[in-house]
Amino acid sequence: MKFSEAIESRRTFGIISHPDAGKTTLTEKLLLFGGAIQTAGAVKNNKIKKSATSDFMEIEKQRGISVATSVMAFGYQGKQINILDTPGHKDFAEDTFRTLTAVDSVILVIDCANGVEEQTERLMEVCRMRNTPVIIFVNKMDRDGKEAFDLLDELESKLNIKVRPLTWPIGMGDRFQGVYNIYQKSLNLFSANKTKIAQDVVSIGDLADQHLNQVIGDDPAIELREEIDMIEGVYDAFDREHYLAGQVAPVFFGSAVNNFGVKELLDTFCLISPSPRPRESDTRKVDPSDERFSGFVFKIHANLDPKHRDRIAFLRIVSGRFERNKFYHHVRLNKDMKFANPTSFMAQDKSVIDDAYPGDVIGLYDTGSFKIGDTLTTGEKMQFKGIPSFSPEIFQELENLDPLKSKQLEKGIRQLIDEGVAQLFIQQPGNRKIVGTVGQLQFEVINHRLIHEYGANCRFVPRSYYKACWITSKNDQQLSMFQKAKSNFLALDKDENLVFLAQTPFLLQMAEQDYPDLTFHHTSAFKLEF
Ligand code: G4P
Repeated sequence: MKFSEAIESRRTFGIISHPDAGKTTLTEKLLLFGGAIQTAGAVKNNKIKKSATSDFMEIEKQRGISVATSVMAFGYQGKQINILDTPGHKDFAEDTFRTLTAVDSVILVIDCANGVEEQTERLMEVCRMRNTPVIIFVNKMDRDGKEAFDLLDELESKLNIKVRPLTWPIGMGDRFQGVYNIYQKSLNLFSANKTKIAQDVVSIGDLADQHLNQVIGDDPAIELREEIDMIEGVYDAFDREHYLAGQVAPVFFGSAVNNFGVKELLDTFCLISPSPRPRESDTRKVDPSDERFSGFVFKIHANLDPKHRDRIAFLRIVSGRFERNKFYHHVRLNKDMKFANPTSFMAQDKSVIDDAYPGDVIGLYDTGSFKIGDTLTTGEKMQFKGIPSFSPEIFQELENLDPLKSKQLEKGIRQLIDEGVAQLFIQQPGNRKIVGTVGQLQFEVINHRLIHEYGANCRFVPRSYYKACWITSKNDQQLSMFQKAKSNFLALDKDENLVFLAQTPFLLQMAEQDYPDLTFHHTSAFKLEF
């Protein structure tokens, strides 16, 4: 295959949802269509169950499963589809945010009864920051939920994006009869089926056709005609360019567990979703068609066996062809490296690959050379942008309980931070280590790993901070006044950026008022200019 064709055929995307909306189920059905798995139930549920908060072994097991299903690749209609899995659990939101920097588009799954939920809003914010094209799948139409028009309004207002339905449900819950494909003018009748992908498609050239009444009944047919009329009147015609620019999200309805509406979603996804897109670096915009290889690390996964501290770095290829056993330049370390066993991920099997193309994600065995955000090139000194840190929500101070083990503790916490498990803020005097996370679960993971993998002896002491804000200012005098006044609440992040640890929303607001020339950034993305 020619280089340009290989790029054009790639579709790299992530599926995101609030937990329980149906992300895992939809992923599985997509794999079923792609022939990557043969039966439903083959993909293990990699979400961390809510009840598992204190069950560390459960977390470990889940981590093990999630590395196998981190990237799922399959061919469909001439396209090479790469699904990047994202953890559903809220405590791992940061991991999901980073994965979103490695995708070219996103499918957002919504539960029709719950509508837009908290986690959906946050994930969508990240997509909006990067103008990532989004397709919305409204799931569980076999259950009673909110009215379709109300849902569309809610999507628009809460997600801050225009929507455009491309399929439309006929009834819902017990009355759910199927979906009308507005895009292709065909009707797909619902037959609950959890394992097969049989379809009962009726072609309806003209909605006025009386055949529709015979198929779905008089009242539903009248209702469908009225609703489609309304859609055509209220919503602009679907414009692919607007979708690609992240301005409008096409909406599909269905029931993932029943395999319904999924084919419409996948077929349309193949038609409209973007092939690998260019990425900004600190020196230039890198186009996938550029034959010089480049890529960045967006995820690092530690080995589950504490005796072997090797890790897998997940590299998204941005441009050029990656080849096994060829030297590439690790920009941050200014060092050339080659990789004997790069892996690809086909559903649950990992296999060594000889080459890979823009849009692909490969796994590189790593003994500690990589940090999240690292760039590999063919020699050029450039660094990809776009892996922001968000303010953590929980802060705890890491205390060393054994002075003889302080080296182990230092090394362990630095490596875990490199993996992106948490954020670290160093406070003076005394090099105090404040660890910040989005969820309590990470503290358990960190504590367990520091003890078992690094032999450290430590504990976490809660600190009552509300938010970490990255500080920049052009007014040096005001900045130094601020630094003097707030010295007890200042810290440096892992890249030595100045961070203000605000104790309450009120104190943050006061600081913003008292020091108007300072900018209080809520993400570290201020350096990245999205
Ligand atoms: P998640 O990854 O987004 O967290 O959600 P997941 O796919 O695990 O789905 C959450 C629950 O919703 C599962 O039920 C799943 O079977 C159910 N579900 C998914 N799609 C549909 C749908 O279209 N209709 C209906 N009625 N239910 C759906 P569970 O009881 O939590 O797990 P399971 O024992 O069924 O696997």
